[in-house]
Amino acid sequence: MSDTILKAEGLKKHFHLGGGFMAETKLVRAVDGVSIEVRRGETFAIVGESGCGKSTLARLLMRLLEPTEGAIEFEGRDIAGIRGRDLRELRRDMQFVFQDPFSSLNPRMSVGKLVGEPIETHRPGLSRAQRRQEVARLLSTVGLRPEHADRYPHEFSGGQRQRIGIARALASNPRLVIGDEPVSALDVSVQAQVVNLLHDLKSELDMTLVIIAHDLAVIRHMSDRVAVMYLGQVVESGPTDEIFANPRHPYTMALLSAIPEAAHGRARTRLALSGETPSPAAPPSGCRFHTRCPFAREDCATRIPELGAATQESRVACHYWQEIAADRPAAGLTPAAGLSEGAQRRFALYEAATQATTPNPRTAANAEA
Ligand SMILES: Nc1ncnc2c1ncn2[C@@H]1O[C@H](COP(=O)(O)OP(=O)(O)OP(=O)(O)O)[C@@H](O)[C@H]1O
Ligand code: SF4
Ligand SMILES: [Mg+2]
Repeated sequence: MSDTILKAEGLKKHFHLGGGFMAETKLVRAVDGVSIEVRRGETFAIVGESGCGKSTLARLLMRLLEPTEGAIEFEGRDIAGIRGRDLRELRRDMQFVFQDPFSSLNPRMSVGKLVGEPIETHRPGLSRAQRRQEVARLLSTVGLRPEHADRYPHEFSGGQRQRIGIARALASNPRLVIGDEPVSALDVSVQAQVVNLLHDLKSELDMTLVIIAHDLAVIRHMSDRVAVMYLGQVVESGPTDEIFANPRHPYTMALLSAIPEAAHGRARTRLALSGETPSPAAPPSGCRFHTRCPFAREDCATRIPELGAATQESRVACHYWQEIAADRPAAGLTPAAGLSEGAQRRFALYEAATQATTPNPRTAANAEA
């Protein structure tokens, strides 16, 4: 069997906005041609700034949203258009952990009901006693106690509530779990515990994990491969270690330069990206990053870069990644975006992004094991 568990090709989701009487409708290109492949057993991360389309992509992959265009395959089966029983089966095999553990749990349901409900839906053959046993088992799996089943969500902390959300997701024995910013609503002090829990569960339960995050520090700790999104598209993807050591796309460099020192291993030299993120309703022509890219040249505004192979394992969508990586002097280039200043920034940025001195904690932990 192929080692690809989930695959998207040319996936698009466009929302129509506005359009009252005489008003013009706007087309929001939330996801605009995304192709990714998630391998069985890995943790695959999707990162990017707020509004770049991460949640929309996650909801498309889960079939919680209908794609405007494109193909999605789960375990080799086309799921882009499935309905009814097939969709119910998909809901069993692929589960979601939501960002906000405060609003995603029904406050009127006890924890036992919250976790028992998906068991009842997906494993209807179990007796009531078996179900109760299963709830107790799931609660201890996520680090809670069986007697917590009688309590209600408001009696728990944010971290505990997210554990309840995870227990709920695990109730159907899914083969793939998608977490949309599963820790970003939690206190920093408990984020690591929940990240570690997800990481351990993944190995114990033989699952594949897709994690959406805007926090690269989280990604570095737990993901095997990563896709970086900008304005509805993937601009770079590859093994996490490789991307952290050698980011090729200028946007990835900027994201990496913004990681706090503690996660990055050295003083932070932050590249202040010029300008606001453009709206996905009016994405820039050519390379969508050209309005903020310190390396942009004239043709970047007209030529669309394809996501092409940079190495066997990684891909990048930039016309000039080789030149940028080769550190070629700026002389002789068309100064489309203040290149001399940009070039200066590039050195600081590139240095910061490529010379992380602390070992990756995830790799270090593996080495000890
Ligand atoms: N139902 C919708 N109708 C119209 N526009 C939408 C809808 N859902 C999302 N969008 C728009 O699509 C874009 C991508 O949104 P999305 O929520 O996927 O981003 P995100 O990367 O998850 O952001 P965040 O990090 O803030 O969660 C945004 O511009 C958003 O306003
Ligand atoms: S294609 Fe041009 S604008 Fe886009 S990231 Fe590369 S250098 Fe920057
Ligand atoms: Mg989101």
